[in-house]
Amino acid sequence: MTPRIVPETSLTSEQDAAIRAALCECFPVDREIFAATRSWHGTYPTWSVLVALEDRVIALGGFVEREILVGAERVRAAGVQNVLVVPEHRKSNLFRQVMSAAMEESFRRELDLGLLFCTRDLARVYGWLRWRLLEGRQVIRVDESGRFQPLPEKNVTMFYPLRRPDIPPGDIHLLGNDW
Ligand SMILES: CC(C)(COP(=O)(O)OP(=O)(O)OC[C@H]1O[C@@H](n2cnc3c(N)ncnc32)[C@H](O)[C@@H]1OP(=O)(O)O)[C@@H](O)C(=O)NCCC(=O)NCCS
Repeated sequence: MTPRIVPETSLTSEQDAAIRAALCECFPVDREIFAATRSWHGTYPTWSVLVALEDRVIALGGFVEREILVGAERVRAAGVQNVLVVPEHRKSNLFRQVMSAAMEESFRRELDLGLLFCTRDLARVYGWLRWRLLEGRQVIRVDESGRFQPLPEKNVTMFYPLRRPDIPPGDIHLLGNDW
């Protein structure tokens, strides 16, 4: 059960359906959205990390490559979109394997840093994988009507150093909608 990197451009319709089934199972609140599409706020991943067992996706990460603005600097981010492990395969190291494969791939693609938004509870779990919590930064997205909006307060922001050893100072502008 080795994680595979699958670019969005080479995803098959069977893989698309298998990913959406896993998303519906692991994010029941958003089931209606994921039954129809994998895009979140209009954004598809640039590539995904898949762990499949027969025809089923049992672990997944979606990664959005985006140039964003941090303070006055443009940086190339690997935005973490949907990470999941289906219930019966949890606590079996798949989460770590997916995230490690993704950060290796992001480094290979010469991205500057990883960026994710999650609940404060989950920050502890990403922290085990060396993701760092970013406190006191405003994160701005561009909503569907083109307005600048802050991300919801329930989310925390975390980053992972890749080609850049640290994140520049300043607020973060996603230069598009969130993922
Ligand atoms: C988050 C997830 C991918 C972790 O996979 P996993 O195989 O359980 O990962 P690990 O075994 O390495 O770590 C599990 C730890 O994360 C904790 N955890 C899992 N989901 C959590 C959540 N939603 N909030 C807080 N903690 C959570 C577990 O309690 C466990 O901590 P413990 O060892 O102290 O009990 C999996 O639980 C999942 O798919 N959850 C539903 C989808 C989701 O919330 N994805 C994350 C979006 S950012």
